[in-house]
Amino acid sequence: MPVVSLSDVRKVYGGDTVALDGVSFDVDQGEFVVVLGPSGAGKSTLLRVLNGLTTPTTGEVTINGHPPGAGSDVGMVFQMHYLIESMSAYRNALTGALSRAGWLRSLLTAYRTADKEAALRALDTVGLLEESEQRAGSMSGGQKQRVGIARALVQDPELLLADEPVSSLDPKAARDVMGYMKRAAEERDLTTVASLHQVNIAREFGDRFIGIRGGQVMFDGSREELSMDVVDDLYYGKDTAGAYADDEQTVDAAAPSGGAAE
Ligand SMILES: Nc1ncnc2c1ncn2[C@@H]1O[C@H](COP(=O)(O)OP(=O)(O)OP(=O)(O)O)[C@@H](O)[C@H]1O
Ligand SMILES: [Mg+2]
Repeated sequence: MPVVSLSDVRKVYGGDTVALDGVSFDVDQGEFVVVLGPSGAGKSTLLRVLNGLTTPTTGEVTINGHPPGAGSDVGMVFQMHYLIESMSAYRNALTGALSRAGWLRSLLTAYRTADKEAALRALDTVGLLEESEQRAGSMSGGQKQRVGIARALVQDPELLLADEPVSSLDPKAARDVMGYMKRAAEERDLTTVASLHQVNIAREFGDRFIGIRGGQVMFDGSREELSMDVVDDLYYGKDTAGAYADDEQTVDAAAPSGGAAE
């Protein structure tokens, strides 16, 4: 059974904004999938549908055979880290255990030893064991994102989602963070779906790529199949391949296709 299954998923906002339009695909255990596509393509909507924050208008989504809920099955890493800045890296990672325990129970009971061990293990996975007592507010952007990954790992999720987890970072920090995320996924055989804007970084870390545009899957394939032509089609459309529009997203997408030829 696939971990993720989407069948003809359609999401319409406000009656006329079609964010997802007939999206169907499965993701198997342990796959590291990167979702690519221009701004407004529907990437965040897709991830929100997978973690149950958004309900599809029509179609079916299952995670290990069950509808996604707000429970602990899905861990999420966000573009902005949403850490509690005054708390240590360790305390922030530990809050990942709250969603598993439920907020009420967590108020009434102390963290279990197993949770504490899970927090330290997760910080070790993201290379922050030495910094575990450092205040999150004093950490670099890359370190904060790694704490965010650790927090998601403490949830012990069946599926790890990340929506543009490195878009606020410089290329080196972005690669570091993606490297740790990949390592975490491999260590734990964790199925991962991450959206990325940087195609060159996506190429380095993804095993499988799903390209969406206008809410539709335009591409689903391996690194070898993700050619420069495919990337150009995805971001610029067939008729305008190579033409640079003057928005920021286009510049982001343009750099990688050049970089890929290095
Ligand atoms: N809560 C919402 N209400 C109404 N429309 C929305 C909502 N969220 C997204 N949309 C619209 O749905 C479409 C897809 O948006 P989405 O945020 O999923 O794109 P995206 O691929 O994540 O874009 P970006 O790369 O800019 O983050 C867009 O047209 C967007 O304006
Ligand atoms: Mg988005």
